[in-house]
Amino acid sequence: MNKLTHKFLAGSILAGALWGVAMGAGATTVDVYKSPTCKCCAKWVDHMRANGFTVNTHDVGNKEVRERAGISTTLGSCHTALVDGYAIEGHVPAQDIKRFLKERPRAIGLTAPGMPHGSPGMEGARSDPYDVLLINKQGDTTVYSRHLPSDSKESLMRLK
Ligand code: CU
Ligand code: CU
Repeated sequence: MNKLTHKFLAGSILAGALWGVAMGAGATTVDVYKSPTCKCCAKWVDHMRANGFTVNTHDVGNKEVRERAGISTTLGSCHTALVDGYAIEGHVPAQDIKRFLKERPRAIGLTAPGMPHGSPGMEGARSDPYDVLLINKQGDTTVYSRHLPSDSKESLMRLK
């Protein structure tokens, strides 16, 4: 076996192993861009970790990364997360992200625009209904899931 073939094979094996980690039991890594002083962002990060995600935080704000992802300010929120080639904007519940990463649609990602009261990281006295939106490659949105305050635990109606 020549040196080049050997290198190639080693590369394939490594790529295969990495693929296995990405697809298999290994925790999915999420990169969160947020302001260092954002409290609700930190609480959302806790929510993601509690749901099995590995989270790296970048305390540099999220304006730039959101723009680069192609998410408009109207669809924006306090933090932007990058995961598996997608962008997740704001207080999107981990359950929605898990479903999304399984379905892997052609899309920019998901957003929970603004800061809905009662969403993960925004828990408090008040709870409002809110929608998580899927942002397609053109930047248009469709409702991905609806969250109702009634039984705030896991009240999502799947629109499928
Ligand atoms: Cu927030
Ligand atoms: Cu935030």
